Amino acid sequence: MTKDLKIGLLGLGTVGGALVRLLLTRAEQIERAAGLRIHVKRAAARTAGKSRPASLAAGALTYDPFEVVRDPEVDLVVELLGGINPARALVREALAAKKPVVTANKQLLAEHGEELFAEAERSGVALRFEGAVCGGLPVIRTLRDALAADRVASLHGILNGTTNHVLSRMTEGGGSFGAALAEAQAEGYAEADPTLDVGGFDAAQKLCLLARLAFGARVRPQDVLTEGIERIGPQDVAAARELGCVVKLLALARWVGGALDLRVHPAMIRAGGPLASVGGASNALLVEAEALGSTLLSGPGAGGACTAAAVAADIVDVGRPGAGAPLPFTAGRDVPLLPHDQIAASYYLRFTVDDAPGVLAGLTAALGKRDISIAALHQRERREGREPVSVVLLTHRAREGAVQAAVAEIDKLPTTRGRTQLIRVETEKV
Ligand SMILES: NC(=O)c1ccc[n+]([C@@H]2O[C@H](COP(=O)([O-])OP(=O)(O)OC[C@H]3O[C@@H](n4cnc5c(N)ncnc54)[C@H](OP(=O)(O)O)[C@@H]3O)[C@@H](O)[C@H]2O)c1
Repeated sequence: MTKDLKIGLLGLGTVGGALVRLLLTRAEQIERAAGLRIHVKRAAARTAGKSRPASLAAGALTYDPFEVVRDPEVDLVVELLGGINPARALVREALAAKKPVVTANKQLLAEHGEELFAEAERSGVALRFEGAVCGGLPVIRTLRDALAADRVASLHGILNGTTNHVLSRMTEGGGSFGAALAEAQAEGYAEADPTLDVGGFDAAQKLCLLARLAFGARVRPQDVLTEGIERIGPQDVAAARELGCVVKLLALARWVGGALDLRVHPAMIRAGGPLASVGGASNALLVEAEALGSTLLSGPGAGGACTAAAVAADIVDVGRPGAGAPLPFTAGRDVPLLPHDQIAASYYLRFTVDDAPGVLAGLTAALGKRDISIAALHQRERREGREPVSVVLLTHRAREGAVQAAVAEIDKLPTTRGRTQLIRVETEKV
């Protein structure tokens, strides 16, 4: 038996436009496989005069998104506006009216998930978001369904395509961060204002959603230790290569004792490891679970077509005839978070110092008195005259608090000529 499903679409941009096209080209396939005929009953955009998908029915388009949510014939609302306002009010209103919602808006869910999932549970309708993390990769589905009865021990991911593209460029071409970012912007891989991506904030929002699914943990972006890739230089990329590593913006969530270690930062990971070969704008998630062991999902992490495919899969899942009650997602709980100074890792430290006698002794003394032991030390280049030099040092496993304190002390020494570069080395699982 075929069921008609009338959807209200909020947003006709990159993903919304691609969704309208996908629903048209895959209409027969969806009807055959899921017994579902999907109609875009209403669709909202902001700017009059832009060209819109030709397949939109006459009269479907409105510039008031609340009209879409309030249309009594709309069975399910798809939110593809992005941002918090007015998306938050629209999603809340749709859920309160017992209309299921599908969204790809990670920012909205990372910041207001609590309230929205509670509303969905109260109304007994689904709030789905496969498109919000890793574009078309079925990471949410895997954590929610396939691993529902397993116990996830850790997540390691490359969750942001822009930063991965920039770092891949720097690794291949050896250029600077600025040059690689400018190229990525020219090619459409980075926004004009790339702060959310290069600062690690986008990946932190996604990590919150994943941690909530994998660990039932109620966490917010401000709980995640977040550092961007802006300070990665060609010398760091070259040093990583010498160490048999590559630099990636790593998102990580894992239990350490009874506390959750949550971070997004540049990391040196093994060149032969599972995440190192994830190049360009791709995304990947490595899940370590008790029963299943290690599973890697990788592929295109963004783009209209693949995100629209994930959104469409959610629509089909929720709307198909006989779809059961949604799995509740709200059973999140507050969990202890690992204080950032308790993080344990090996550290790559690059000091910019005077090329003078006794300088090295000053560095090693600051580390030694905090029991940070040195695994390798290298003076990268000798310069003529009074030019500063780089001293690169790799520590054995140490506590973050001790390393940060040593670096702060070293950065105040009169022989230090620039801020010390610190990159964590994560080679255990990745
Ligand atoms: N693009 C990707 O690859 C990707 C991947 C994963 C997830 N996502 C997520 O998907 C969502 C949509 O992203 P996108 O790239 O499609 O964004 P986009 O291209 O900027 O499109 C946004 C759409 O929403 C409309 N809109 C914005 N504010 C509105 C308002 N107040 N009232 C009515 N319409 C409004 C815009 O109207 P106009 O057309 O008139 O400007 C546009 O059609 C975001 O949450 C994003 O994070 C995107």
